[in-house]
Amino acid sequence: MVPPDVFREQPVLTGCRVRLEPLDGENGAALVDDYVDMDPVVRRLTGTHQRFTPEVLRDWFATRPDQHDRADWAILEREGGTVVGECALIDLDPDNAAADYRITLRDMALTGRGYGTEATDLVLDYAFGTAGLHRVALQVFAFNVNAQKSYARSGFVREGVWRSHLRWDGRWHDTVLMSVLAGEHARRRAERGADA
Ligand SMILES: CC(C)(COP(=O)(O)OP(=O)(O)OC[C@H]1O[C@@H](n2cnc3c(N)ncnc32)[C@H](O)[C@@H]1OP(=O)(O)O)[C@@H](O)C(=O)NCCC(=O)NCCS
Repeated sequence: MVPPDVFREQPVLTGCRVRLEPLDGENGAALVDDYVDMDPVVRRLTGTHQRFTPEVLRDWFATRPDQHDRADWAILEREGGTVVGECALIDLDPDNAAADYRITLRDMALTGRGYGTEATDLVLDYAFGTAGLHRVALQVFAFNVNAQKSYARSGFVREGVWRSHLRWDGRWHDTVLMSVLAGEHARRRAERGADA
């Protein structure tokens, strides 16, 4: 029940710590080196088996603005404008007003500062408040406890597990499924407003 190109007018989203700009060839260029030579911890936490070449990455970032059934953002530090990561609403299901969410910061040194959680809050405000989605869901590996904390802080609720879904370093790992619904998000926002 949302248009299939609902993300066509993708806005800049601004918070206290971060600014989210629609991802493109220009801001994406700041991510290329980190993705080619990915931090092994980030690689494991995101389950990234694939190895990327700079050409493939540049092409990927440059083509994001043409994709209106998904919305990719570069995450920038609000002060200074350094690109610290990316996040996206993907796998849009227009008939059911649903999408999936993914996020990563580019380096573990940038984690734990609240950047990712604020970025997720901004994307959810847009997803429910502007795009009119009913449900946003994500997948996170069971061993990625910090990411689960961040998502829970933004209102995601654990709803299930895919068993033995990731093979990493010779071991099988479960994937946790989380989601947040529009009504839940609206209630959280109202409570936050009341606290402020
Ligand atoms: C998941 C991620 C986006 C969360 O963003 P963030 O900016 O780190 O989020 P926050 O700073 O709000 O931290 C969330 C929680 O994790 C903890 N945390 C995050 N990074 C940490 C670190 N390096 N060391 C210790 N604790 C850490 C925080 O203390 C916080 O826990 P708390 O609720 O008990 O205080 C980010 O950590 C990240 O990109 N990690 C690497 C890749 C990844 O895991 N991507 C997600 C794949 S599903």
